[in-house]
Amino acid sequence: MRMNIKKVKAVYFSPCKSTGKLTERIAFRVAKLLDVPAEIIDFTLPKARENKYLFKKDELAVFGLPTYAGRIPNKILPFVKEGFLAESTPAICIVTYGNRSFDSSLTELLSETGNNGFKALALSAWPCRHVFSDKIAIGRPSEEDLKKADYFAERARDLIKKYKSADDIKSPSIPGKEEVLPYYSPKKDDGEPAVFLKAKPKTDSGKCINCGVCASVCPMGSVSYKNFSEVNGICIKCQACIKNCPEQAKYFDDEAFLSHVRMLENNFTAKKEPEIYI
Ligand SMILES: Cc1cc2nc3c(=O)[nH]c(=O)nc-3n(C[C@H](O)[C@H](O)[C@H](O)COP(=O)(O)O)c2cc1C
Ligand code: SF4
Ligand code: SF4
Repeated sequence: MRMNIKKVKAVYFSPCKSTGKLTERIAFRVAKLLDVPAEIIDFTLPKARENKYLFKKDELAVFGLPTYAGRIPNKILPFVKEGFLAESTPAICIVTYGNRSFDSSLTELLSETGNNGFKALALSAWPCRHVFSDKIAIGRPSEEDLKKADYFAERARDLIKKYKSADDIKSPSIPGKEEVLPYYSPKKDDGEPAVFLKAKPKTDSGKCINCGVCASVCPMGSVSYKNFSEVNGICIKCQACIKNCPEQAKYFDDEAFLSHVRMLENNFTAKKEPEIYI
């Protein structure tokens, strides 16, 4: 008897879509190789996080999270802890990052999914466009990255075929990243700490056409539907409102934030490769 997977679920948080693109590519590729259906659980928007999601033993979960400050986005962590329940469900964990470092995000995702009853059999980290800049890892995930994602999916399928049951899965380790470290502290271009926790996007009223797209894509539900230039709740700096505004009316002008972006552009443009742990 071999492990029998009947469905693959792509499960992700992805305000600016890179994480979703890679997670879906991997999940749908594995599903095709196993000849089973795939479905998407996109928990980017607040409404999707009102549910709890149950996973069966004969399903495969492919989790995708972006790296924020070297970890899983901290405002999303409570949902990652409480929103998913598994019974020894096999899993694949992937993270994306903006070409600086994924630091502890993959280790944290492995640990949190493990706490919820998932058995991760393959892990990977993917350099992607940094949502803060149009100069860092632009165009990634590229076609070449997506082909590597297919290769990773094939290796994961080989592992699924190898195991007799999910209880036998031995999760891979991430050499040098065994521990979850404290959050990364962003730096300004002079090396001093960049403090922009309270920064919020501004709106150019001369450009805004009041279409409401920014409010509909905010993962925190923080852009006011009464006045689209108002951000009432928490802003996690995800950039979804900025990237999706059809009129380029949204922008950040916080000096510490802009200085951090310059620091990233000065130091983290050299091409990085995806890392696979199986
Ligand atoms: C608040 C915030 C913090 C980030 N921190 C990091 C980081 O520590 N290291 C890194 O390389 N990229 C970092 N990034 C970049 C994202 O990880 C990267 O752009 C990711 O692919 C975005 O995923 P998405 O397109 O699915 O939203 C950060 C992005 C945001 C919004
Ligand atoms: S998406 Fe842009 S144009 Fe549309 S309401 Fe928001 S700021 Fe205005
Ligand atoms: S307001 Fe902040 S959290 Fe909401 S979409 Fe814009 S950048 Fe993201």
